[in-house]
Amino acid sequence: MKIEPAELTPRENYKLLTSIVVPRPIAWVSSLSPDGTRNLAPHSYFNIISTDPPIVHFTSAGEKDTRRNVEATGEFVVNIVTDDLVEPMNVTAARFDADDDEFAWADLEVAASSRVAPPRVAAAKAAIECRYRETVSMGNGHMLFGEVVTVHLSDAVHHDGVADPEKYRPVARLGGTAYATIRDVYHLARPDVEELQRDAAR
Ligand SMILES: Cc1cc2nc3c(=O)[nH]c(=O)nc-3n(C[C@H](O)[C@H](O)[C@H](O)COP(=O)(O)O)c2cc1C
Repeated sequence: MKIEPAELTPRENYKLLTSIVVPRPIAWVSSLSPDGTRNLAPHSYFNIISTDPPIVHFTSAGEKDTRRNVEATGEFVVNIVTDDLVEPMNVTAARFDADDDEFAWADLEVAASSRVAPPRVAAAKAAIECRYRETVSMGNGHMLFGEVVTVHLSDAVHHDGVADPEKYRPVARLGGTAYATIRDVYHLARPDVEELQRDAAR
């Protein structure tokens, strides 16, 4: 089947692309409004952009409280959604008013951040404190970039300075209402080019 995006509605393109570009990790972004109201919302358009310095981004589709808060205050925290947090994460995706506190609605314990004002989700296995750098807008997407200033990693998943893939159970967003948890972990070492050349010459 060949599909031409120009022949689809924006909604159909959204459904098609978000079903294909998977699995997507979920950045549960906490922020504060200028008057100090807490905000928390999931964003699966999320990834690493740079590691020197460390920079991540998430994309806001349209005008949302998270984007307004981050652009106004310059700070946010990416809390990673693991399988134990999927229900409260879903609650925070509801269309609350700007003066509603999603931490309270989802009955989540709040933890203070170290170097930014927005709080963290206390139960998050990983939380990434960020200083906002800039927004790049394209179409209806607004990519917000943030420099990572502090990372919190729970002792439950921490191993040798990184998140242990066997213990860390990040939830992936798939298309529509589908989600997946990463459980089957395997390792694949990257080949050395000389090794490949030797094998090819045999
Ligand atoms: C798993 C999941 C992932 C989502 N990813 C995004 C995203 O990447 N960008 C976006 O704009 N909205 C995304 N949404 C929808 C927002 O979370 C939703 O619009 C939310 O109400 C925005 O809250 P805010 O206005 O407080 O920022 C996602 C929702 C869910 C459940």
